[in-house]
Parts: sequence; structure tokens; C-alpha cells
Amino acid sequence: MTRYAKDQRVPVTLAVNGHEYRRWIEPRLLLSDFLRDELGLTGTHVGCEHGVCGACTILFNGAPVRSCLKLAIDVGDGQITTIEGLVKDDEFDAFRQAFSQNHALQCGFCTPGVVVSVWEALKRASDSESVDWNDVLSGHLCRCTGYVGIRRAIMALQAKGGGKTEA
Ligand code: FES
Ligand code: FES
Repeated sequence: MTRYAKDQRVPVTLAVNGHEYRRWIEPRLLLSDFLRDELGLTGTHVGCEHGVCGACTILFNGAPVRSCLKLAIDVGDGQITTIEGLVKDDEFDAFRQAFSQNHALQCGFCTPGVVVSVWEALKRASDSESVDWNDVLSGHLCRCTGYVGIRRAIMALQAKGGGKTEA
């Protein structure tokens, strides 16, 4: 295990949303804080900071990951996609519409993390992979919606061809 001196900074290069970013950072910097404070990508929210609430979920090499549980220096060559990256995708308008029309958010704090996980799960579902939506949503604490609207939004997205399983 590498030991670092107090206040030491190390160079990192991270691929985020298709861009390469170079920074000097403290080795203990969490990926969630790197995204928010170094890159200004504040769509990744931070709630519990210990892997429970799901607000900080991002895609790491295409899979949902809690960015508060990862150090920025441990990312290596991994490809990171945040909610800001998804928003630029042509398919995102369908998400915006489904979440808005089905009242799938109120305060919106949990929403970026929920969208990231649902996005990935719908991709799996459209590949005929079985998706357990209870399992997907159990990774996200939403204090506002009671999850009913979120489930309706998922069903609306599935009805548009975003997957084959029931929400
Ligand atoms: S902030 Fe990462 S899981 Fe809550
Ligand atoms: S919309 Fe407020 S926490 Fe989910």
C-alpha cells in the first residue's frame, strides 16, 4: 500500500464524459468530490458519503458505482459518465419527459443518481437481460416520491422500447 505525506498532491488523469482531465489532487480525495469540486460537475449529488443513499451514483465503465466510495486516484483508465454526460445523449429527452410527466421527482436531490441507475438498467433490459427493478431502486433513497412516480416513469420508458421487464 502506497503511503503519502500529509498535504502531498499527486497527478491524476481521469476520463469523464468523453474528456480527459488532468489535475493534482490529495490522494484521499473522493471521486464524488473530484467531480464536483475539481470539475464543477455538481449534478453528482453527495448525501450520506458512505454508500447508502445512492445520490452520488455515476457510471464507471458502464456500470453504476457510488462515487463516494471510490478515491479519484483509484480510477485509473476507467471511463466515467456522470449525469451531465447522459444529458448530452439523444436518448435523454425521453428520460426528462418520462420523469417530468410521471412526477418522478420532487426536490430532485436523489434524481441524478436514480436516472443513472435506471439508464443502465434499461440498457440491460433492452438487451433482454432480466432486471429486478426493486433491486435497482433499493439502491436509492428518495424521501419525496414514495417511488410510485419513479416506477411509472420507468414503465413509460419501457413502453417506448427502453426495456422488456415490468417496473
Ligand atoms: S453520497 Fe454516495 S451513497 Fe450517499
Ligand atoms: S425527489 Fe426528493 S429525495 Fe427523491
